Amino acid sequence: MKALDRFGRPLGSLRLSVTDRCNMRCGYCMPNEEYTWLPRSSILSFEELNRLAGVFASLGAQKVRLTGGEPLLRHDLAGLVRLLAAQPVVNDLALTTNGMLLSDQAEGLRDAGLRRVTVSLDTLSPGRLKAFARTDRHASIIDGIEAARRHFSSVKLNSVVLRGYNDDEVVALLEFAVERQLELRYIEYMDVGGATGWDRQQVVSRAEILDRIAQRFGRPEPVDGRGQAPAETFRLPGGSQFGIIGSTTAPFCGSCDRSRITADGTWYLCLYADRGVDLRRPLREGATDDELRALVLQTWSQRADRGAEQRLAVAERGVLYPIEGLRADPRREMHTRGG
Ligand code: GTP
Ligand code: 5AD
Ligand code: SF4
Repeated sequence: MKALDRFGRPLGSLRLSVTDRCNMRCGYCMPNEEYTWLPRSSILSFEELNRLAGVFASLGAQKVRLTGGEPLLRHDLAGLVRLLAAQPVVNDLALTTNGMLLSDQAEGLRDAGLRRVTVSLDTLSPGRLKAFARTDRHASIIDGIEAARRHFSSVKLNSVVLRGYNDDEVVALLEFAVERQLELRYIEYMDVGGATGWDRQQVVSRAEILDRIAQRFGRPEPVDGRGQAPAETFRLPGGSQFGIIGSTTAPFCGSCDRSRITADGTWYLCLYADRGVDLRRPLREGATDDELRALVLQTWSQRADRGAEQRLAVAERGVLYPIEGLRADPRREMHTRGG
């Protein structure tokens, strides 16, 4: 059965956050000193996560992407991948990671059935990474990317571009990706929960990114067939492709088929949604798969969210939540929602 929301958007992809913990502190996501963590007892087991994925996949969400925080911090993540890969209804299994722990885990994840990996890489400078994301393990990330190339046929890189941080690396990052035949996607800095330093001036728009690339490589050509994906794909005159996720200046809500479940089993129908649906309670109170399916179907059929478009219409656009608002409900954080 296929679930459709009020705008006819299908439930097509599920982002499953497996932990709210992270071993980095990127300035656009975790700039603060202290965080409220989800209580351990509330974190779903692999069996619980796998059951929810099965319910969602049976309603059309056959693309599953594991996220965090940093998903590789979850003990034995390959064990969860094995469960998910064994479900015939799940036909696309991917991971978004910061790459720091990937070199040791890539092969095991591939063997367990993972198919696609996306690694975040915002700078080629170890010094910048240390200042911006508070880690001195830039080399481990590069090793993680190399391991991913060895073991996976589909590897993407994500770069969030911030003025004054890495906007002078737009070209260098693309050269790095092109040399390794990886698809780079630039991401506009978003005013999501967690981005407590968000400022309009720091957003480097899709248009500006394209201009910088054109100056170095010549004008990129748009590639047709955006489909449900958040990235618009472009081709360089030399043939290499890259993407831009323009969520801040060019939202794609109209074709958004995604939703996300936090590690404690709260389901969010939009990245910007203030409230989620508690799936942990019915799960732990013994709901059957049919009962869970009915709840998901009913909720999705009422969905009318267009969060990024609504943000675009805000004249005095600033930080989405002040720190107190995030402390009051840590599920508003991007690192808890997983993007
Ligand atoms: P594919 O399956 O390869 O299309 O993966 P993906 O691009 O969906 O996954 P990834 O984790 O790389 O997500 C890319 C980025 O898009 C995220 O890091 C977010 O910045 C952004 N993003 C993800 N989901 C949403 C969403 O629902 N709305 C908006 N506006 N941006 C999103
Ligand atoms: N703006 C854009 N992207 C963000 N991410 C986290 N916070 C933000 C933000 N404020 C992205 C990371 C990573 C993914 C998990 O979420 O770059 O690719
Ligand atoms: Fe950075 Fe991702 Fe960690 Fe956020 S969750 S701090 S984006 S690595």
